[in-house]
Amino acid sequence: MAIWERGFASIYDKMNAAMEAGFMGRRRSALVGPLTGRVLEIGSGTGANLAHYEMADRVICTEPSGPMRERLAPRAEAAKVPIEVYDCAAEALPFDDASFDVAVSTLVLCTVDDVTRTLEQIRRVLKPGAQLVFIEHGGGADGKRGRWQHRIEPIWTRVGCGCRLTRDTRANLEEAGYDVIEFEQFSPRRTPPVLLPFNQGVAVP
Ligand SMILES: C[S@@+](CC[C@H](N)C(=O)[O-])C[C@H]1O[C@@H](n2cnc3c(N)ncnc32)[C@H](O)[C@@H]1O
Repeated sequence: MAIWERGFASIYDKMNAAMEAGFMGRRRSALVGPLTGRVLEIGSGTGANLAHYEMADRVICTEPSGPMRERLAPRAEAAKVPIEVYDCAAEALPFDDASFDVAVSTLVLCTVDDVTRTLEQIRRVLKPGAQLVFIEHGGGADGKRGRWQHRIEPIWTRVGCGCRLTRDTRANLEEAGYDVIEFEQFSPRRTPPVLLPFNQGVAVP
């Protein structure tokens, strides 16, 4: 697994290059560019969001994978705002209660082991009334595509270092007691259908 984790980290940016150029880069900018204050980002991966922060006082990134953190480091150095990187899982955040102004999750809630625990931890560390902003994929596909995603999910999860295809972000948030105050579900063209739909929004615990 450790070897594949390293391999996955090494191909991650190349694998996503078309998606980033097509819609993710633009959406990342719109999502994190205006965020202010002390920002928590879970599962930062190779740091694809980091160049897009413009206004934050500080971004605290969490990333449990060593090979991902190696790729994140130069992007953290090059970012326009101060970045700190922590080796920890989103289910066990080593931060004080009510210590963040906003939280960010992009393409992570599909991968965490325990999405309920993750959302509890985010709620704990956010200040009262603070928002979780997100772009996630999966969930909500019914009919033929939904059945197909369910069928291939066990293999996909192994190959994709834990990524699930059928996690329903909106349902997970609502079950965890978040109000989803903005939500857009979209299916970009020229995106592998296995990943569809994508979900972007804002939720308040
Ligand atoms: C698909 S990548 C997304 C990376 C980045 N957020 C992005 O938008 O490109 C998922 C990331 O979540 C990380 N991850 C896996 N399990 C996690 C957990 N329990 N807590 C936090 N991050 C986790 C993985 O190591 C990986 O870097």
